Amino acid sequence: MRPIIVAPSILSADFDHIESEVLKVEPAGAKFIHLDVMDGVFVPAKTFGPELVRRISPFAGKMIRDTHLMVADPKSMIDEFAAAGSELITFHYESYDNDEDRFACLHAIHDAGLLCGMSIKPDTPEDVLLPFLPELDLVLVMSVEPGKGGQKFMEKSLQKLSYFRKHIDELGKKIYLEVDGGINDETAKIAVRFGADVLVAGSYIYGHEDYARRIQELLR
Ligand code: DX5
Ligand code: ZN
Repeated sequence: MRPIIVAPSILSADFDHIESEVLKVEPAGAKFIHLDVMDGVFVPAKTFGPELVRRISPFAGKMIRDTHLMVADPKSMIDEFAAAGSELITFHYESYDNDEDRFACLHAIHDAGLLCGMSIKPDTPEDVLLPFLPELDLVLVMSVEPGKGGQKFMEKSLQKLSYFRKHIDELGKKIYLEVDGGINDETAKIAVRFGADVLVAGSYIYGHEDYARRIQELLR
């Protein structure tokens, strides 16, 4: 059985007490801390930049700082996020309109010494990521339209998870398969059954008082 990792998304956390919000989830069982960066261009909303990553990093312990860039030009931001403490940067296939720019971004992330993930939105076909797969450390399947927390899980993401599970297993290389959006105790179980091994959850964890209980429910 694959080890399952829970990645709480701070998007739904209390930003007035963000340090303690980050601090609380590691003893509760989280192995990644998921950081949703939105620029107001790639998605309508704007969230935070490297400064917040720098602020929370000392409170993240051993959790991987899993930085999900929902921005128009991710490559231009890699060095700033690396310096701020990001350890894994995931960018969107849709951020660029050609594979040359996409490969350049992937290589810039690795050159900065970080793990690299790529993500696809719900309407993007999964096979577009195949040329990148051998070089990736993580594939992120969006199970909602990126842009905000608290949306409903889209079932059509499930066949994408099994598609990537098959291709990752065939490659025989460690590549995380992460799912993001609408994850709760029920959808988590289904996503794991279809091949996911990293579960991002924002509102399900931070919208509840007992973070440890919620994280344990996702791992059950
Ligand atoms: C959405 C973000 C998600 C978001 C998930 O664009 O990428 O990480 O925080 O929120 P929930 O778990 O509430 O769907
Ligand atoms: Zn995310």
